[in-house]
Amino acid sequence: MSELLIVEDLTVTFPTTRGPVDVVKGVSFTVGRDDTVGIVGESGSGKSMTSLAIMGLLPRGARTSGSIRLDGAELLGAADRDLRRLRGDRMSMIFQDPLSSLNPYYPVGLQIEEVYRAHRGRSRRAAREVAIAALEQVGLPDAGRRADHYPHQFSGGQRQRIMIAMALVCSPALLIADEPTTALDVTVQAQILRLLADLRRQSGTGMIFITHDLAVISSIATRVLVMRRGEQVEYGTAEQVFAEPRHDYTRMLLESIPRIDDPTNDGVSA
Ligand SMILES: Nc1ncnc2c1ncn2[C@@H]1O[C@H](COP(=O)(O)OP(=O)(O)OP(=O)(O)O)[C@@H](O)[C@H]1O
Ligand SMILES: [Mg+2]
Repeated sequence: MSELLIVEDLTVTFPTTRGPVDVVKGVSFTVGRDDTVGIVGESGSGKSMTSLAIMGLLPRGARTSGSIRLDGAELLGAADRDLRRLRGDRMSMIFQDPLSSLNPYYPVGLQIEEVYRAHRGRSRRAAREVAIAALEQVGLPDAGRRADHYPHQFSGGQRQRIMIAMALVCSPALLIADEPTTALDVTVQAQILRLLADLRRQSGTGMIFITHDLAVISSIATRVLVMRRGEQVEYGTAEQVFAEPRHDYTRMLLESIPRIDDPTNDGVSA
């Protein structure tokens, strides 16, 4: 069976006053249908730039080389209108910061409806029903009434759920979740992880899950990509990477995972 997403030798370069800087350097990985690829690495290692390159949403000025194919079609260098057609429909992203990606001036239900209507072009009423169903699916209580509320009227965990509902409303084949739980407390974090794992199992969506936390990766990923300073230091199945890390940096990350049975672990540092 063909892979859903194939990233080959991806490089992302920014011009700077001191010359071009590569922030992603020759990264290659694949996402199968029904796979969860975990991308892990310290801050600034290029995780978000890798996902923005896939979505065609890199900041202005960025240059790319290599290849990114979704369902066999090349995305690097594709026309804007083709990428717009794919975004929100075949591929979706849950962004690192939900407050900056939800519009503060519109009710959340309407924002989800608009994503749906942009791709499916249905009536407002049909879109409204789909939006409310999506909010129910992510476990937002009283979704019919809450759909009319504005982003600031929700907690951080609820906003994250709303972002997930928006990303899933057209049943994408590929879902990228960029640190979707970092800003949340551990209990809510665990709920969101469970929710994403359930949704992925039910709908067979290929997923890329980005975090700087290997403990989170170990709970959901089938394949793991470790990045450091734009480079891919390790890539393999989760079993391979966890059982036999080949790189010192991965071993260091693995050693820093707090263990549940460790009496010095206060459960907060994860
Ligand atoms: N607009 C830009 N112009 C130039 N360099 C940039 C720009 N945006 C980000 N960078 C650089 O790209 C590198 C990779 O950034 P990226 O956002 O992908 O890191 P990350 O792994 O997602 O980190 P974090 O865990 O903090 O989110 C960083 O060194 C950053 O300074
Ligand atoms: Mg990031």
